[in-house]
Amino acid sequence: MRLDKFFASQSLASRKEVKELVKKGLVKINGIPARSSDMTITPEEDVILLNGKTISYKEHIYIMMNKPQGVVSATEDNLHATVLDLVPPELFRKGLFPAGRLDKDTVGFVLVTDDGDFAHRMLSPKKHVSKTYEAIISDAVSPEDISAFQEGLQLKDGTLCLRAELKVLEPGKQPLVQIVIHEGKYHQIKRMFEARGKKVLFLKRTKIGNLSLDENLAPGECKEILHKELDQILE
Ligand code: URA
Repeated sequence: MRLDKFFASQSLASRKEVKELVKKGLVKINGIPARSSDMTITPEEDVILLNGKTISYKEHIYIMMNKPQGVVSATEDNLHATVLDLVPPELFRKGLFPAGRLDKDTVGFVLVTDDGDFAHRMLSPKKHVSKTYEAIISDAVSPEDISAFQEGLQLKDGTLCLRAELKVLEPGKQPLVQIVIHEGKYHQIKRMFEARGKKVLFLKRTKIGNLSLDENLAPGECKEILHKELDQILE
């Protein structure tokens, strides 16, 4: 990996700043001052010192993103912007991907990472990591709808869903509701309401496991999340 890329990947300094640091002799690789900011290093093996302090290499990165509408949860797309297009350069790394998908018109919490093992654990159907959504529904929600979600409803194609929690947050003709599901079928929330003869007009994921989307993140913004917060995802 290029030295300046390494610094950027660890959110330590921009490429321009690395050039300056190298010029001033403040960066050492295995005890020897770095030759240039674009020299190649092996982060897992080399000892990198900045200002005399060892930089411990973070193998993986975990990013909380507030996905806006119109962006696809994919690594590439010919027509639309992808969640990777929204990752700022200081957090960007090779191998990033969204761990779990939201529909193009769904907004909210997407975890972007380069850690395949973690994503696998989080998405494993056996793990039943909960996902919490808020939605605006086309029609009033009845006690029967709430019971149907609670009992595990059947989608129009016959697929059975696990028990889910449906709660009305703001009642009305087009109520705001909260739904908690413990699996991740294709278009699941939309199909669950369809099975009750209703439409989802707006959908936002607010929580994965016990980790809530940071309300300070504007649509399209992201932030790095820490290890202890990751534990909250796996509950
Ligand atoms: N359920 C849906 O219908 N869409 C999503 O994006 C997520 C859950």
